[in-house]
Amino acid sequence: MAPITRKLSSDSRSDNRLNKENFDEALIRQPPGHPKHKCFFNHIWSPIFTPELIRSAKSYEPEKGDVFIATYPKCGTTWTQHICSQLMIEDYEPTDGKELFITSPMIDEKGAEFVKQLPSPRLLKTHFEWTDVPKSKDAKYIFVCRNPKDSIVSYYFMYRLLVAYDFADGEFDTFFDLFADGKLAYGDYFDHLNGWLEHINDPNVLALRYEDMLDDLPGTVVKLGKFINDRTSKLVDNEEVVARIAQNSSFDAMSHDQSRWVPQAYVNPTQAPFIRKGKKRDWINHLSKKQSDRIDELFKQKMKGTIAEHWWQEQMSWD
Ligand code: A3P
Repeated sequence: MAPITRKLSSDSRSDNRLNKENFDEALIRQPPGHPKHKCFFNHIWSPIFTPELIRSAKSYEPEKGDVFIATYPKCGTTWTQHICSQLMIEDYEPTDGKELFITSPMIDEKGAEFVKQLPSPRLLKTHFEWTDVPKSKDAKYIFVCRNPKDSIVSYYFMYRLLVAYDFADGEFDTFFDLFADGKLAYGDYFDHLNGWLEHINDPNVLALRYEDMLDDLPGTVVKLGKFINDRTSKLVDNEEVVARIAQNSSFDAMSHDQSRWVPQAYVNPTQAPFIRKGKKRDWINHLSKKQSDRIDELFKQKMKGTIAEHWWQEQMSWD
């Protein structure tokens, strides 16, 4: 099985243990000033994950009609799940035990058995790289990506927000270096992006950019409806339906009652909320020029020759 995240450095005894192929004992790591991570299968994970459920998630055999929303964290996952839920679930009302994280769970966290109990067609969230996502020609995959500079900032605030990472007072500079080195949960942003980009022309894959969703939300609703299935395709022929879904999926609408998106037990109430800014270029308020240059350089190196080589130039420029 190919790695989910970049290999950990081998400069410590625990890292050497992690390099063993079959290592599956979860190890908590938290150097001073760093977030708390769990390490197993030679990768870095959120501390709430277990080897058993990750193994189970990877072994899931998708059924006809299953829809996966696949992202690197903070690229618009919840937003896309909320739109797709309105299209796919007739009585979708994400409250009282039917919150989005229950009806559209993260398979990586919950494993296959949990997912199998959901009614079909299933809408599943994953941060798995392409190599690890459960595959079937009968399933559909919606891949959403976002420029790396805004992703870093959004991911930083999520690490502060989620209690499990124990990073509420964490420094941005520490976080930035971990991101640039591919040493966060779900690993290297660029590896994740590149793995999925190779498949965005597959017939059962739809790729979206967060920034394009911001520019044209009704158009995004139509694109998703046309892609998912015949029923949703017909649904988005109705302009009123499209307008209603777009309105329910605006930043303002989604900012209300955020217990719909994340279990409240997971979050630190003193931090910025999960639906936080919802903008392009918020990174300019957080990255130094040096940090911005470092991401530009990584982008140039790692995206060279790919379809995304010239993406996000405006959104990532310093000026
Ligand atoms: P910011 O932290 O930059 O605000 P994910 O669901 O993948 O974790 O992504 C979360 C990011 O998507 C957050 O970004 C969040 O505010 C943004 N987001 C969620 N819903 C949104 C919406 N309706 N409009 C714009 N951005 C949204």
